[in-house]
Amino acid sequence: MTRLTAFDPPPEQTDELVRLVGDLVGELTTTAAERPVFTADRGDDLVAGLLDVRPGRAPADLDDTLARIREVLATGVDNAAAGEMAYIPGSGLLTSALGDLIASVANRYTGLSGFSPAAVAMELGVLRWLTELFGMPERAQGLLLSGGSAANLTALVTAREIHAPEQAHLATVYVGAHAHASVRKAARIAGLTSDHIRVCASTDGLRLDPSAVEVAIKQDLADGLRPTAIVGAAGTTNTGTIDPLDELADVAAEHGVWFHVDAAYGGFFVLTDRGRERMAGIERADSITLDPHKSLFLPFGTGALLVAERDHLALAYAEDADYLRDRSEDLDALPDFSSITTELTREWRGLRLWLPLQLHGEDAFRTALDDKLDLADQAWRTLADDPNLEVLAQPDLSIVTFRVRGDDATQDELLRLVHQHGHVRLSTTVIEGRVVVRLVVLSHRTTAETVELAVSLIRTAAAEIVGG
Ligand SMILES: Cc1ncc(COP(=O)(O)O)c(C=O)c1O
Repeated sequence: MTRLTAFDPPPEQTDELVRLVGDLVGELTTTAAERPVFTADRGDDLVAGLLDVRPGRAPADLDDTLARIREVLATGVDNAAAGEMAYIPGSGLLTSALGDLIASVANRYTGLSGFSPAAVAMELGVLRWLTELFGMPERAQGLLLSGGSAANLTALVTAREIHAPEQAHLATVYVGAHAHASVRKAARIAGLTSDHIRVCASTDGLRLDPSAVEVAIKQDLADGLRPTAIVGAAGTTNTGTIDPLDELADVAAEHGVWFHVDAAYGGFFVLTDRGRERMAGIERADSITLDPHKSLFLPFGTGALLVAERDHLALAYAEDADYLRDRSEDLDALPDFSSITTELTREWRGLRLWLPLQLHGEDAFRTALDDKLDLADQAWRTLADDPNLEVLAQPDLSIVTFRVRGDDATQDELLRLVHQHGHVRLSTTVIEGRVVVRLVVLSHRTTAETVELAVSLIRTAAAEIVGG
């Protein structure tokens, strides 16, 4: 029975606390690859009980408290399991979580660079690696944010500030039919009216058509509006399709419009030769959204935005205050994150990205992502050969989409049958009015064995459905 005696407990209690938490973390990591995605229990009873739990006046027992956390972990969907292939999977690297732990315990402040210049420099170094990786200019600036939605919002507010300052009511943006909902949400929060969000036609039902964007821009200019941003996708959420980025960049350049690329899902495939080739033109973007918590396998909570001209961020976000007058002298090379984002108080976020890149090395990520492309391609070919299934276009990246022969309800039935196994989770979407099943190979724990299991479960379910 251990009850903590102080906020900073004596050394032996601190050791025990760290050891017990370490045991749990070790167990979670070493069993993840084998665990089912669907735990046995959705946790309904636990949910009802937990809603009534309040902190006691006195400290609770440490073992009992950790046991409660274990109870929670035994319920619901286990996103960290290898068979998570639904939506856009995020797996969560241990090395990143450990970086977070160190950053939180040290509690260094990084909103103003003068407080902890070396900690800020560490983050800026990894952000420069990102801007270089995407071929952005010297004056580019990276930011770490909470996710892709925050990055898209930060980008569109900046674009509005540059192309329609004080005129949000005249600003227009151009997006594809498969743009992520966060892009439309960001445009609305940035002050655009929903009728100024132009959803433009696609070339093959999947790819944003640059000529449709151009027609819309010309019409808006003729109507006295302020075309503000074109948003292309480097990997749509539905199918992982990459929009024609180079041609979209041409249209943006021709009309002096901001070019934003939402690469939240697909961005880090740029580390592979195939990904880099398919994303040609991304280097011409004014801003790029990335989600290290997707294709860099980090735990949820890390998005990134890269902006080609750092002064544009300062124009949108810089604000001074009397109570900040005695902050330490800023170093020229180190921008204040608080002047280029919405945040003032900000944790040492960079360590959760810096530590895994240092400890695993860039090649480990390149190889893992190359492997995901191979596994998705293999899955697509096998499913394409099955007469009970109909595949959509060959994947640009690692999202395989298909239908079992039958109506929309049949697709839901296939999902239900596959999910009965417990070790594979898929999801569905709607493409051109039809329900389609998605299999996404992205978790760092998803191996050839996991994909083979998924494909085999899909084919068995399809045979059962079609065979009647
Ligand atoms: C293409 C794309 N953009 C943006 C987002 C939103 O990112 P987040 O969920 O990190 O806010 C997603 C999420 O799946 C996405 O797939």
